[in-house]
Amino acid sequence: MLRGRSLSVTSLGGLPRWEAGLPVEDLLLFEVAWEVTNKVGGIYTVIQTKAKTTADEWGDNYFLLGPYFEHNVKTQVEQCEPVNDAVRRAVDVMNKHGCQVHFGRWLIEGSPYVVLFDISYSAQNLDTWKGDFWEACNVGIPYHDQEANEMLIFGSLTAWFLKEVTDHADGKHVIVQFHEWQAGTGLILSRARKLPIATVFTTHATLLGRYLCAANIDFYNHLDKFNIDKEAGERQIYHRYCMERASVHCAHVFTTVSEITAIEAEHMLKRKPDVITPNGLNVKKFSAVHEFQNLHAMYKARIQDFVRGHFYGHLDFDLEKTLFLFIAGRYEFSNKGADIFLESLSRLNFLLRMHKSDVTVVVFFIMPAKTNNFNVETLKGQAVRKQLWDTAHSVKEKFGKKLYDALLRGEIPDMNNILDRDDLTIMKRAIFSTQRQSLPPVTTHNMIDDSTDPILSTIRRIGLFNSRTDRVKVILHPEFLSSTSPLLPMDYEEFVRGCHLGVFPSYYEPWGYTPAECTVMGIPSVTTNLSGFGCFMEEHVTDPTAYGIYIVDRRFRSLDDSCNQLTRFLYGFCKQSRRQRIIQRNRTERLSDLLDWRYLGRYYQHARHLTLSRAFPDKFHTETTSPPMTEGFKYPRPSSVPPSPSGSQVSSPQSSDVEDENEDERYDEEEEAERDRLNIKSPLSLNHVPRVKKKLHGEYKN
Ligand code: UDP
Ligand code: G6P
Ligand code: GLC
Repeated sequence: MLRGRSLSVTSLGGLPRWEAGLPVEDLLLFEVAWEVTNKVGGIYTVIQTKAKTTADEWGDNYFLLGPYFEHNVKTQVEQCEPVNDAVRRAVDVMNKHGCQVHFGRWLIEGSPYVVLFDISYSAQNLDTWKGDFWEACNVGIPYHDQEANEMLIFGSLTAWFLKEVTDHADGKHVIVQFHEWQAGTGLILSRARKLPIATVFTTHATLLGRYLCAANIDFYNHLDKFNIDKEAGERQIYHRYCMERASVHCAHVFTTVSEITAIEAEHMLKRKPDVITPNGLNVKKFSAVHEFQNLHAMYKARIQDFVRGHFYGHLDFDLEKTLFLFIAGRYEFSNKGADIFLESLSRLNFLLRMHKSDVTVVVFFIMPAKTNNFNVETLKGQAVRKQLWDTAHSVKEKFGKKLYDALLRGEIPDMNNILDRDDLTIMKRAIFSTQRQSLPPVTTHNMIDDSTDPILSTIRRIGLFNSRTDRVKVILHPEFLSSTSPLLPMDYEEFVRGCHLGVFPSYYEPWGYTPAECTVMGIPSVTTNLSGFGCFMEEHVTDPTAYGIYIVDRRFRSLDDSCNQLTRFLYGFCKQSRRQRIIQRNRTERLSDLLDWRYLGRYYQHARHLTLSRAFPDKFHTETTSPPMTEGFKYPRPSSVPPSPSGSQVSSPQSSDVEDENEDERYDEEEEAERDRLNIKSPLSLNHVPRVKKKLHGEYKN
């Protein structure tokens, strides 16, 4: 097999094809995660966006293992029969023994195979499997922790499946990558049963880290001081923490998504990750360079329509001078930085009012919470807008017909009489319908925990109630976006494209997909130096601000200073002219190569090689492998930005309010010329992939 053969880095299209050196036809690759076909947060994005590159490399030998949920399968999976013998046998055997295992193709790019386990169907085995788990690792799971119990069933089914596969793998070596503690039980059981598999455990956060940060503890300054067993016990997550920690220590290779989480893991889980696997995206390039700018304009128009309805009767601001900002993600109020964002918005509101700015800022909070559906006032807003549109349309039709008839008669119509009394009545009635007694609502839904909800409580405290004098308006949409919504029928990607700035001032964020997604769509964003993404950008981009990546310092400043810095970023952004925004979007989009799985996938490849060499040292005796390195590559500061740090602050632009709609193409060209002058190459074309570093043979001691 691989013995004696170096993992040669052949450059193919600029990419090191490590796996090209691996006989993938003699291997099987499984990836296990609770978020396979099941969207919860960013792990779904990892799996879903990476599928294409991994399936390209592994073809029919790549399988994703996840939970079965009827709705997900109906909407995302095409069920079919497994072609691979070992997998087919495993599915059949388990189904014969009373499990429900589904097999199919996940209908996403790369259409990978998925094996989905119906957890509820096997629930009657819970007690037996709890016993097995105890035998394996002495971790007990309390009956009342339903989620942990489900994970145990998921893990037991995974381990059973892997046992069946390896029993009939026909000499093929098996690599299994487990994501996050939820999938970890499968790993612990497989190792306890000594299955012949090479394992990788990837953590996307640590349980304790997330909990401690959410409790507003000064986490990063006390990393080495926590009594972690005690902290886990006090938070009643001791068993989960044990499951996570055992997974980490059972794996041949341990990986995580960023440097910052690697340090955290060393303290919270007591193992230094072997490989850091930064999260990528499936970047699609448009054939026309300006296409993403056109999309911005198109989707912005849709958001403007929604805003017209939401603020009916209060639309005394100019939509052409209105900026759309948003924060989105799982509802973790302080971890995601919604707290500091609201505080900064209050300060921004003050600044814009004080400076009599004609800019209005509409801020969306897209964070799912418990609700009783949309509220009446919000739905009414869209209905009123629709009614005004219909009225305008019917009057326009009548007007047009009269005008046409007059022209046919060779007359210029008398404009004073072209609208009759009925038309005026209809129009007056339409205007009357826009009267409202209340302010435009702050939330689009009826919140179940309205009085205790942290976002709403903060809004009440800082008084951002969407009053006429406010220059900053706030809309909480406590549900993920969907193109089938009757209120705001846009999917998340369309919405992001239509906005001007994503704001993600997280305190706890192992990676943070939301700003990364903004970047590849050419939308500037705010991130922090406590997020994996923010640190990655700081490392690879000389002047991130110039590229539309605003990094708030939440590590070395007080909360109040961070908040002031964020306010400065936001205020500076508001002072930009349209022209400056267009140029900035062009620059932002240019960074997308850095976030492409075609580039970042190499870290996953490296982890796979490493685990093979540790699990099967006799077969995969790799003399030459070392972590891929990106050090040394940095996007230079754009030449149009003065070299001093102050020059990169967009907070001091020369305001150019005369805005030429056709200017953007010209600026694109200017930017292109600048790029050519600098000869900026994307990292994809850099062949700085490592050579021989260390001998791995026999390194792993079981
Ligand atoms: N997201 C979404 N719909 C929304 C808002 C967010 O699908 O309306 C997705 C977003 O695309 C991103 C994920 O939620 O991929 C959040 O991932 P992130 O890594 O930022 O945070 P996590 O929730 O995993 O902590
Ligand atoms: C894109 C479009 C332009 C439009 C601009 C608006 O660049 O191609 O036609 O004028 O967006 O930008 P803004 O930042 O004001 O939404
Ligand atoms: C976790 C983290 C998030 C990361 C995601 C994918 O949910 O909270 O920061 O982006 O996993 O790795």
